[in-house]
Amino acid sequence: MRNIEKKIARLKKRKNAIILAHYYQTGDIIDVADMVGDSYGLSKKAKENDADIIVFCGVRFMAESAKILSPQKKVLLPAAAAGCPMADMVKPDDILSLRKQYPNAGVVCYVNSTYEVKAECDVCVTSSNAVKVVASLPQKQIIFVPDQNLARYVAQQLPDKEIIPYCGFCIVHHQVSGADVDKARASLPNAQLLVHPECTQEVVDKADFVGSTAGIIKRATQSDNKEFIIGTEMGILHVLQKKNPDKKFYLLSTKLLCSNMKKTKILDVYEALKYGQHEIILDEDIAARAKKSLDKMLELS
Ligand code: 13P
Ligand code: SF4
Repeated sequence: MRNIEKKIARLKKRKNAIILAHYYQTGDIIDVADMVGDSYGLSKKAKENDADIIVFCGVRFMAESAKILSPQKKVLLPAAAAGCPMADMVKPDDILSLRKQYPNAGVVCYVNSTYEVKAECDVCVTSSNAVKVVASLPQKQIIFVPDQNLARYVAQQLPDKEIIPYCGFCIVHHQVSGADVDKARASLPNAQLLVHPECTQEVVDKADFVGSTAGIIKRATQSDNKEFIIGTEMGILHVLQKKNPDKKFYLLSTKLLCSNMKKTKILDVYEALKYGQHEIILDEDIAARAKKSLDKMLELS
């Protein structure tokens, strides 16, 4: 163990802190984390632990959700500038106008959204529970923000629902094309293609499996296949390879790099713990309304 990792371990113990890391973080951060997970797993863990401090290694919307679900804890985002461009593509006013346009529709927001947007919606979803949560809503018509790709994927799984998608997208997954799939498949004919639902339709249509980051890891781990092409952010390869040393994983495209997820460095984690920076502070009224959307998601999934 390097010196910095030992210092992090000591600080964690002294301050009763835990480190939560998303699968897209770098390997050194994943290795010091108390839990690694997808957005859904991490939000559940944020709620169900006895720590006084959560150091959230991911992007801002994830740390905001942790704070909302665990308001009595101090939640720190080690890299203050780590945001999610997709989360910033929709604003609370957009939800208000959509509600006026479709007064009978349920309003669902992908967890990749700001807490101000969550406050205006009926329920949140993550990529691992979106189909289940939307299926359980009473309304036929559903406004789905901000990801057009996840919205389309949900609509295809639930033909009885009328999904009204917003026009947002992930700047990372949305760049990958069907031609990238054809190229990867040609060089790896025995590999299975596992992709995230933030990918475009032409990529999803060619995949063997579509799921959240945790879903992709589960599928690869349970499969008898030995080779996989992975259509999500490259950070996931660390856990995939660690869990499956006998299998081979290839990234679908080198474009699958989220620079925001890579903003957190191990030194930031140490400094966050040492100096209590950068604390997530939210407007209490807005956070209380956003909590209803997150609580409903946990109840329905
Ligand atoms: P997961 O919910 O699968 O962890 O994905 C989060 C994300 O930001 C995907 O780009
Ligand atoms: Fe946001 Fe895309 Fe990065 Fe996920 S991969 S955090 S959706 S920009």
